[in-house]
Amino acid sequence: MNHQKYQFEFEVYDSSDNLNDDDKKLLMQARKVTENAYAPYSNFFVGAVAKLENGEQVTGTNQENASYPVGMCAERVLLAGASSLFPKVPVQTIAISYHNNNGESNRPVSPCGMCRQALLEYEERVKHPIRLILGGLEGKIYVIPRASMLLPLSFTALDME
Ligand code: THU
Repeated sequence: MNHQKYQFEFEVYDSSDNLNDDDKKLLMQARKVTENAYAPYSNFFVGAVAKLENGEQVTGTNQENASYPVGMCAERVLLAGASSLFPKVPVQTIAISYHNNNGESNRPVSPCGMCRQALLEYEERVKHPIRLILGGLEGKIYVIPRASMLLPLSFTALDME
């Protein structure tokens, strides 16, 4: 028997003012795009904006439904858009923000497990890491170098070979 350790490093900033100009701009756009979320059931409005390798930007917001499981997270709405509009173009960075109408919006939230799985597959299919900038409307910001770091021991197509 031996023990294995999984660790990863990410950056923590006290505020969006400490980010570089490009990252700050992307996070501001993610904050703004939360307004386009359709979240009448959770009142938790998530906005995501991606910068692609070709310079294009794609956005995503959570889209809920009265039949709750039909709802989609902002991250997967974004990836579906990126894949449909620019199928082979690497996604470089995604900024994700939220506006919680039931509470505070002042700390970073991370993608849910299902979105982590979707982000991981996107990284693999275009062979490019996806950097994540996570932050609320205010407060600390996390910058994660690649989305797949959030999903250790993941299941991928390789496991079915
Ligand atoms: N949600 C996202 O859009 N992204 C996340 O990373 C976490 C959760 C959405 C799903 C649902 O519409 C609402 O936030 C509350 O869970």
